[in-house]
Parts: sequence; C-alpha cells; structure tokens
Amino acid sequence: MRQVLPTPADEVVVSDCYARDERPARPGRPWVVINMIASIDGSTAVAGRSGGLGTPADHQVFTALRALADVIVVGAGTVRAEGYGPPRTPQAEQERRVARGQSRFPRIAVVTGRLDLDLSTPLFTESVEPPIILTGTAASAEARAAVTEVADVHVVGEAQVDLARALAALAGLGAGVALCEGGPLLNDQLLAEGLIDEICLSVSPMLAGGESARIIHGSAPATPMPMRLDRALEEDGMLLLRYVRA
Ligand SMILES: NC(=O)c1ccc[n+]([C@@H]2O[C@H](COP(=O)([O-])OP(=O)(O)OC[C@H]3O[C@@H](n4cnc5c(N)ncnc54)[C@H](OP(=O)(O)O)[C@@H]3O)[C@@H](O)[C@H]2O)c1
Repeated sequence: MRQVLPTPADEVVVSDCYARDERPARPGRPWVVINMIASIDGSTAVAGRSGGLGTPADHQVFTALRALADVIVVGAGTVRAEGYGPPRTPQAEQERRVARGQSRFPRIAVVTGRLDLDLSTPLFTESVEPPIILTGTAASAEARAAVTEVADVHVVGEAQVDLARALAALAGLGAGVALCEGGPLLNDQLLAEGLIDEICLSVSPMLAGGESARIIHGSAPATPMPMRLDRALEEDGMLLLRYVRA
C-alpha cells in the first residue's frame, strides 16, 4: 500500500495510518465517520451488494476502521442487503482495543423504523454484546417486544428515528467514535442534519453503470458541505481517500 498524500511513501501500514488519526467526540455525540466504497462512476452496489466493488485494499480500511470504532451504525436496508453479522475483530485488534480501554468488539447499532429484521441471524444470535436497535414509535408493540428479547432497543424518535437523538443515546452508552457503514439513505440524513465529521471513500477501479445509489443519496434537504482531503492511499488502482469536514 503506498501513500500518495499528504507525503508520498512507498509502503504504509493501513491500520497504523487510521489509528493515528484524531477523532474527538463532539458535544453530546460521538465523532461520526462514514466508510463507503464506490466505482469510478459512483455506483455503490453491483447486483444489490457492495462486495463486487471490493479488493483486499479496501478491506484493510474496513477492518482498520471497525477496529477503532466504539459502535458501527448501519441502516436496516444495508443489514438486510448485506446479511450483517457480528463484527469479526482480529485477535490482535481486540488486544489493542482493550489496551485503549475499549470493549473487545465494537457494537452494531441498526437504524430502523419498521423493525423488519431477521432475528434468527447471527447478528442477533451470536453477538458478544447484543446489537443496539435505534428505532421510533412507528413499529407495532409486538415487533418491538420481539426485538427487545435479542437486542438493546432505544426509542429515539417517532415515525422516523431522530438521528441526533440516536447519536446522543450512543454517546450515553460511552461511544466516542461511531463508524457509519451506510447505506446511502442513512448517509443522506446524516448529511442533512450536519452529523458527518469524516468520510472514508474507497474508489474502486471499475465502471459499474446501472442505477445504484451514490454514497449519499436521498431526498433530505442538504446544504453542500466542504470537505478537506486528509490522506490518499493507493493499491492496485484502488484509491483509499480520507476526507474530514473542512
Ligand atoms: N458501497 C458501499 O460502501 C455500501 C455501503 C452500505 C450499503 N450499500 C448498499 O446500499 C444498499 C442499501 O442502502 P439503502 O440506502 O437502500 O438503505 P440503508 O440506508 O442501509 O437503510 C435504509 C433503511 O434504514 C432505516 N432508516 C434509515 N434512516 C431512518 C430513520 N431516520 N428512521 C427510521 N428508519 C430509518 C429504514 O429501515 P426500515 O425499513 O427497517 O424502517 C430504511 O428503510 C444496498 O444495496 C447495499 O449493498 C453499499
């Protein structure tokens, strides 16, 4: 893996690069970093999933960010499409987390209004700590009761989850860094509410075409937000870009 910016270097260790970055908690909420992969032409999924865009290079960033996060926030659409399971933190990263005062594994927090989740999947049956569910009051009492059996449910909104309240709830659980892994609809609301501090974007050397969403895609009214390019890594044509709020 070579570093292109800020200073050229022939070989860098991805996990070290990301571990050195500063991610201070914000007033009343964690630092929010979004990690996404897109093709050159901006597609975020091939045949409905992001895996077709990936290479070992972006997987290193995926693993490095998960190793640093206190909580991984994800929209229910992505959980359903990608078949989310418990985080598989490598043993060495677990040790580093413990040394930093973190739990061995980041927790997964799912944003969902409908609570239409498969509760028999490993995410709910095999997680070391139960997943966190961030929901509103829209789903039925029966659905909420069923999810409460296998997850830590937080009601933070009404018809829609109030994302600022959701992040405040995660801060209340001790989260200082929230890694958001999408999808585009969730990202769109985070942008509209001014809740994005950092974007890690892997640009896959591929043209995908089709109709898939961009990394932030939806109808929430957003004001364009300037970002500063903090770092660029490259391996086998995959660009690994880190932007922070300007
Ligand atoms: N390229 C990448 O890096 C990447 C990353 C992630 C995902 N993806 C792709 O993106 C697609 C899925 O993304 P998506 O944009 O369709 O879905 P998404 O953002 O993952 O999830 C949308 C769902 O999240 C829930 N949600 C989001 N905001 C909410 C709010 N404020 N209140 C209540 N519920 C809320 C709703 O769930 P309920 O319906 O349960 O109410 C909504 O249907 C998949 O194809 C996936 O492969 C790509």
